[in-house]
Amino acid sequence: MAEFTLPKNSKVTEGKRWPRPMSTGKTTEFRIYRWSPDDDGNPRIDTYHVDREDCGPMVLDALIWIKNNIDPTLTFRRSCREGVCGSCAMNIDGQNTLACTRAIDDEKRDVVKIYPLPHQPVVKDLVPDLTNFYAQYASIQPWLQTVSATPEKERPQSHEDRVKLDGLYECILCACCSTSCPSYWWNSDRYLGPAALLQANRWIKDSRDEATGARLDNVEDPFRLYRCHTIMNCAKACPKGLNPAKAIAEIKKNLVDRQL
Ligand code: SF4
Ligand code: SF4
Ligand code: FES
Repeated sequence: MAEFTLPKNSKVTEGKRWPRPMSTGKTTEFRIYRWSPDDDGNPRIDTYHVDREDCGPMVLDALIWIKNNIDPTLTFRRSCREGVCGSCAMNIDGQNTLACTRAIDDEKRDVVKIYPLPHQPVVKDLVPDLTNFYAQYASIQPWLQTVSATPEKERPQSHEDRVKLDGLYECILCACCSTSCPSYWWNSDRYLGPAALLQANRWIKDSRDEATGARLDNVEDPFRLYRCHTIMNCAKACPKGLNPAKAIAEIKKNLVDRQL
């Protein structure tokens, strides 16, 4: 039988248990993944107790409270605090989601467990390295491409054509879907993943765009597109309620239709 040995520093260890705050009110325990490139230590899980009387209702509020009141070294991304920028995506109690729109009490557990988005290199603590994810997004050329003469004013779009972009334009590129997709876990060097493909479909379906054929050529590949096996984790994970699996199926249908 084959034996596998994991690298010594890949084992997640028990970390520091920080003291409970001096509070007579409700507290909630958070167990948070920590790793820093600045030392030789293994990843660890640190335990914090958050004073709920003094903290906002969302998981991001709790992370900010911990950083301000207990441990200023805790590292995470965030910006808008209202589910628009996509930067606070992380794995909360086993689900990829946005920390700013996930209420602490949604978890319905005494302990909230937080890890970085899965299967990505970690920059530090809860910050994943999304270099490859953004390069894949750039590869679908997410901008309007035209060959016809530039009109004097804007390029008009009918209401009916504009509606075709619903369910696509709302994507905030948080990466919750791609990092929940098993095909992406194993082939992210070659498979574009649900987020980039949903964005590709957003431009394929735009009535003003004149590069549809080239866009379809760009994704028509056994790895770039056809690694999607309709497992549907992506649609379940999307915090904006989008359905990347449906977008991928529409691209595949377009590829079939153009051969008829
Ligand atoms: S449906 Fe496709 S893109 Fe979505 S999780 Fe499954 S394999 Fe990944
Ligand atoms: S489709 Fe949803 S989960 Fe995927 S990147 Fe866009 S907003 Fe995030
Ligand atoms: S901070 Fe912008 S989406 Fe959460």
